[in-house]
Amino acid sequence: MSEENLPVAPPVPHQRRKRYGGKNPRRFEEKYKEHGGDAATIAKVLAAGKTPVGTHRPIMVAEILAVLAPQPGEIAVDCTLGYGGHAQQILSKILPGGKLFGLDQDPVELPKTEARLRALGFDETVFTAHRSNFAGLLQALAAQNLAGADVILADLGVSSMQIDDPARGFSVKHDGPLDMRMNPQRSQPASALLKKIQPAALAELLVDFADEPNAATLAPLLAGKAFATTRALGDAIRAALPRLGKDDSDLTVRRVFQALRIAVNDEFSALETLLRHLPACLMPGGRVAILTFHSGEDRRVKKAFTESQRNGLYSEISEEVIRPTPEERNANPRSAPAKLRWARRGSSF
Ligand SMILES: C[S@@+](CC[C@H](N)C(=O)[O-])C[C@H]1O[C@@H](n2cnc3c(N)ncnc32)[C@H](O)[C@@H]1O
Repeated sequence: MSEENLPVAPPVPHQRRKRYGGKNPRRFEEKYKEHGGDAATIAKVLAAGKTPVGTHRPIMVAEILAVLAPQPGEIAVDCTLGYGGHAQQILSKILPGGKLFGLDQDPVELPKTEARLRALGFDETVFTAHRSNFAGLLQALAAQNLAGADVILADLGVSSMQIDDPARGFSVKHDGPLDMRMNPQRSQPASALLKKIQPAALAELLVDFADEPNAATLAPLLAGKAFATTRALGDAIRAALPRLGKDDSDLTVRRVFQALRIAVNDEFSALETLLRHLPACLMPGGRVAILTFHSGEDRRVKKAFTESQRNGLYSEISEEVIRPTPEERNANPRSAPAKLRWARRGSSF
């Protein structure tokens, strides 16, 4: 299927615009995104460089398609299905004859994305969705009786749907329970982790997962405390560092939230397992692309790709990291930290 022939969602019946108390919808539940998709409002939100609620804008699509070079008839895996934006583009290149397996550990968003892609015309013969952690990719392929994939994508971190939903507790901007689990059916929320952790362990976590320069000051003030909401934690971080200016204070809050999210979701061990298994998950000549969003992720990807090339598992890897264009960064500020690396398995193993 060519890009021009990409299926489009069935038209949404026109609905009268909702009236809110103020100028704009303030509460997540009131926002336009999941309430009928008012096209004019969504266009305005996009033009302002924002992401409409309940959606996710795929990052570096052209660059990813260029390095993965998906072909008709190929088997593709999207390890981080999210909203399905990259998956939809890859599907348009591997059809006819190809099939895409979409993995995601998020039980809240996965069924919505599966339904959305089905509504676009991708049936079970060309696309299947699997609630799975990508650390289990090797086993997931074996369960499908597949020797490997031709194309694998991992777009790390959280989706805009997750960050923007206060109930998921990822963001200080939208007050909600301090949770941060991508899979709320597993492990413990961030509030429980903070309540249990010792100050020395928290200081180490803040340094290792977010290079936090104020870790030694923050750790004894946050460890062992009960923070029920994202805003309560944000306020405590700001209060602990009263001499910081607003920008530095905001950055500190973001780094602490990032470190906790990585810990709660065990993100680095999942990534390291994926990186170790990737060469065995690729068919000869297969390609993998990984989008990272902070130095801890990028360092691990670079190291694993370099070592696997040295060991002969990859025939070629990206020499340099690929970054979003200034135009994309401007149109979608959430793309700004993205770094893309790729690797190719040799034609013989
Ligand atoms: C940045 S979003 C992906 C967006 C997607 N590329 C798109 O176009 O919509 C990252 C997604 O990966 C999922 N995820 C993160 N770590 C994961 C893991 N270890 N296993 C499976 N899914 C994971 C998250 O739940 C989230 O939905």
